[in-house]
Amino acid sequence: MLHMFWRKIQKLNPNQFLLFLFLIFFLTMMMNYKSLECKLDYNSQTGHVRSESCRNLYYQDLKLEASGKKNCSRIIRGDQDEVRKTMIDNLIVANRRVLATERDYLEITKNCRNFKKLKKYVTFSLSDEERNFPIAYSMVIHDNIEMFERLLRSIYMPQNVYCIHVDMKSSQTFHEAVKAIASCFPNVFISSKRESVVYASWSRVQADLNCMEDLVNSSVDWKYLINTCGTDFPLKTNAEIVKGLKLLNGKNNMESEKPPSYKKRRWEYHYEIKDNVVQTKIKKTSSPLNIPIFSGNAYVVLTRDFVKSLFENSIVKQFMEWAKDTYSPDEYLWATLQRFPEMPGSVPIHMKYDTSDLAALARLVKWQHLEGDMEHGAPYPVCNGKHRRQVCVYGAGDLNWLVQQHHFFANKFDPRVDDHAIQCLEEYLRYKLFYGKNL
Ligand SMILES: *[C@@H]1O[C@H](CO)[C@@H](O)[C@H](O)[C@H]1NC(C)=O
Ligand SMILES: *[C@@H]1O[C@H](CO)[C@@H](O)[C@H](O)[C@H]1NC(C)=O
Repeated sequence: MLHMFWRKIQKLNPNQFLLFLFLIFFLTMMMNYKSLECKLDYNSQTGHVRSESCRNLYYQDLKLEASGKKNCSRIIRGDQDEVRKTMIDNLIVANRRVLATERDYLEITKNCRNFKKLKKYVTFSLSDEERNFPIAYSMVIHDNIEMFERLLRSIYMPQNVYCIHVDMKSSQTFHEAVKAIASCFPNVFISSKRESVVYASWSRVQADLNCMEDLVNSSVDWKYLINTCGTDFPLKTNAEIVKGLKLLNGKNNMESEKPPSYKKRRWEYHYEIKDNVVQTKIKKTSSPLNIPIFSGNAYVVLTRDFVKSLFENSIVKQFMEWAKDTYSPDEYLWATLQRFPEMPGSVPIHMKYDTSDLAALARLVKWQHLEGDMEHGAPYPVCNGKHRRQVCVYGAGDLNWLVQQHHFFANKFDPRVDDHAIQCLEEYLRYKLFYGKNL
């Protein structure tokens, strides 16, 4: 049978032969296309993947493989020899990768399809559970376009919605490049209002508020809002974040604790805001909320109703007005509203509800003065990267500890300090996105 078929093919003239080749080509393309249409949803009854081969096909197409010879699986598992190789590589200046520039992004985004393909964006949801639970992101950034784009790619899902606040002080080309990237996605946009963010001033809160207002007005039916800055990177996949958010049961989640006494002057005095924030001798009245001030940080996980209330509750609006001339309101405003009974998803002011940064889900940060030997009581091991403003910029050697924590995001990452760490996290998360297990 096959023999006869072969003889027939040999008798074909060149034109017929070409047609035959084309037919074969067409058929294989069709089969490829069909197989790429396979369903990726988990089977909710058994929790098992419907089609492993289908998953493999997608993963081959969309995997984010770290460059060089390093083995990210080993690095994530804490293999010290493998980590040491990346540290040595970081010392060799000639090995340093040139980061993508704003011009590069302006160029590649001219064709959005190619851009998404080249950068391997996941443009379909992986489960009904995620599809039915959209998340809103407020991203406040000012420079480092490559880091921003890699962060966006790592959290991008078509059902979510992303608002980007670009600092007024950022260069025109940076703004253009972010606009160009956003224009490739229907669910990514730039905030309608822009602030010039001054360190430790109200403007940091206002930047998030600008995005929050746009997000509340967006047509996407998002359930929770997460804010990020340009040096954050996720530790969890979208599926894991959705599961975590559902377990919150309608509560917000963030650091919120009794403040140390040295911080109290930050809201007890009037501050002047110029190029930086300067304390004056003028005492402020107490806050219009009839509860104490709690301390926390700028990174929060908020329910949609909480975000809506920010623009509707008149006492909350007075509180925000009152906070505008204080020092670093981002570090107490959310933490205090989280304890205000009128705010949706808040928790009682009793100290039993105090939540430390390590107990909260929002952000994992290694503060230099708390690093140390965990066997001697330190909350976390020593930073494997470098310190900036007393905060660890993570190295590949931090990954093993990072991925064992429950936090959705960690801060800080910088490809100029350790690109290996980010690359391995990208590879790890993409693998987990498709297979639901560790690399
Ligand atoms: C990386 O290391 C793991 C664990 O030792 C091993 O199973 C895997 O094959 C390695 N991967 C590569 C690409 O060498
Ligand atoms: C959001 O919607 C409200 C009510 O429709 C409107 O007053 C407000 O101006 C809108 N905000 C923005 C930033 O579009």
